[in-house]
Amino acid sequence: MTARIIDGNELARRVRAEVAARAAVLSGAGRPPGLAVILVGEDPASAVYVRNKVKDCEESGIRSVLDRLPADTSEAALLARIEQLNRDPSIHGILVQLPLPPHLDAHRVIETIAPEKDVDGFHVSNAGALMTGTPRFRPCTPYGVMKMLEHAGVLLDGAEAVVVGRSNIVGKPQAMMLLERNATVTICHSRTRDLAAHCRRADVLVAAVGRARMITGDMIKPGAVVIDVGMNREPDGPNAGKLCGDVDFASASQVASAITPVPGGVGPMTRAMLLVNTMEAAERAA
Ligand code: GUN
Repeated sequence: MTARIIDGNELARRVRAEVAARAAVLSGAGRPPGLAVILVGEDPASAVYVRNKVKDCEESGIRSVLDRLPADTSEAALLARIEQLNRDPSIHGILVQLPLPPHLDAHRVIETIAPEKDVDGFHVSNAGALMTGTPRFRPCTPYGVMKMLEHAGVLLDGAEAVVVGRSNIVGKPQAMMLLERNATVTICHSRTRDLAAHCRRADVLVAAVGRARMITGDMIKPGAVVIDVGMNREPDGPNAGKLCGDVDFASASQVASAITPVPGGVGPMTRAMLLVNTMEAAERAA
């Protein structure tokens, strides 16, 4: 069997077109949606992500403000800037790109963002709202994964879903969203005994570990749907340095019924869902 490819680029294009239409309505009413993106330091991957987010905004009719702060920015200065954006009525979403330099406390930084502008969905009140069944902003990556599953017509009700990874950004919120859709959810992580056995039970497998090609075809149930959240660099071999996922695509695509590629899978959907969350924030404010 060769798996069907779930095309993130194509779906993201559709989502962006819907956002653009909604943004035009607000802009026409004199209330253009606005997103502030803060990047602290020079991490090259973060710089690329942030540049792409700003570019997406431009193409969708969302006004964006990019703050590039030096790596040695003090916590007080960063918090003061966030508080200023919290008060700015032209800004509806605030995103602080992670990871932050080690001298900054990411938790305190995130908690300073006004929850109604936390378009990443990382604030404890947004995380708690998702957990208790009254979601406001869903974190963009797992939200994008849910859109892809929906678009691909994947049945979640009663399905065995396995999430590999327990981060606050992906694994934990992903598990909550799958549970919301009545999947039976298992969260695996670095201390899980016999990861392969858990993975082989999954009808839907979401890999979000950050290790190149660690999920191989022999760990996948025939016919499963495989979602690859990984954004790794090939460590060695002829493709050294190229982007690759957490899933070994060559072997996995022989076993799965549907699979997301890297690049062109989850990544573009993460970016698209940030635009959706920003639109939601702007519409609620308007
Ligand atoms: N770093 C990796 N993923 C994300 C994300 O979704 N949002 C932010 N702010 N930083 C990230």
